[in-house]
Amino acid sequence: MEVFRSKPSVRAQLAAWRPAPIVLVPTMGFLHEGHLSLMRLARARAGDAGRVVASIFVNPTQFGPGEDFDSYPRNEARDFDLLRAEGVDAVFAPEASEIYDPQAQTIVETTELAKVLIGKLRPGHFRGVATIVTKLFNIIRPDAAVFGEKDYQQLAVIRTMVRDLDMDIDIIGAPIQREADGLAMSSRNVRLSPADRAAAPVLSRALDEAAAMAPTGITASRLRSHVRARLEAEPRARVQSVDIRDAATLETVSGPLTRPAVILLAVSFGQVFLIDNRVVHPTPEEP
Ligand code: PAF
Repeated sequence: MEVFRSKPSVRAQLAAWRPAPIVLVPTMGFLHEGHLSLMRLARARAGDAGRVVASIFVNPTQFGPGEDFDSYPRNEARDFDLLRAEGVDAVFAPEASEIYDPQAQTIVETTELAKVLIGKLRPGHFRGVATIVTKLFNIIRPDAAVFGEKDYQQLAVIRTMVRDLDMDIDIIGAPIQREADGLAMSSRNVRLSPADRAAAPVLSRALDEAAAMAPTGITASRLRSHVRARLEAEPRARVQSVDIRDAATLETVSGPLTRPAVILLAVSFGQVFLIDNRVVHPTPEEP
């Protein structure tokens, strides 16, 4: 596996590999099984002849003041070992100075989607995400890119950006990977205290209950209240937001569910901000 720190060096390697299909998996590192499942999807899309490229970059512009940029977990050597074991062809792991020119004045923003849900809790976050993902797309020029469905709104932002800016890149969503007790895998989980780690599966339990209640004709607002009450019953959880939105458009929904809806949770445990989501259906799901 080749490791590249600079834009010219990664571009030169990619030029040598083309026309083989290139599939990019952007990450912020501190990889876990969830990320590795993205690498496997990327390999399946690239095929034996294609090339899988991962990027590792803790992007400063998507963290707000007082957020966890400094304490975000990092372990590059371990990440490289995991990527090598997955058969990833190259990793692009630049310094911030390689990515951001101090003179830069251009940003990318999905104006409406960036303002709602997580965008309301973390102003500027999705502008940072859309801008870095655009830059990575321009540096790597992949045929396809894989993103986790755990960051449901992020995936919607990226799909919207790709559509609006005519980017010829196939965006692949990868299902959430969970620990045995249901907690959605996240690099931030290691920062949970033992007591918070024991309490955190309340998110997936609340989502499972909501999925079971969705086909009963319950209204969106009652379902939302039920999920919120379930989370608030856990004294260690600080509920930041519980939203139910149309699964396809992220528009608000009201009344009894008529189409698939997504329940989006943002909950803090101490200093650790966790998100999770589940698509629920108005008719019973196939087993
Ligand atoms: O999901 C992430 O890890 C990040 O938001 C991403 C897409 C790599 C952009 O920094």
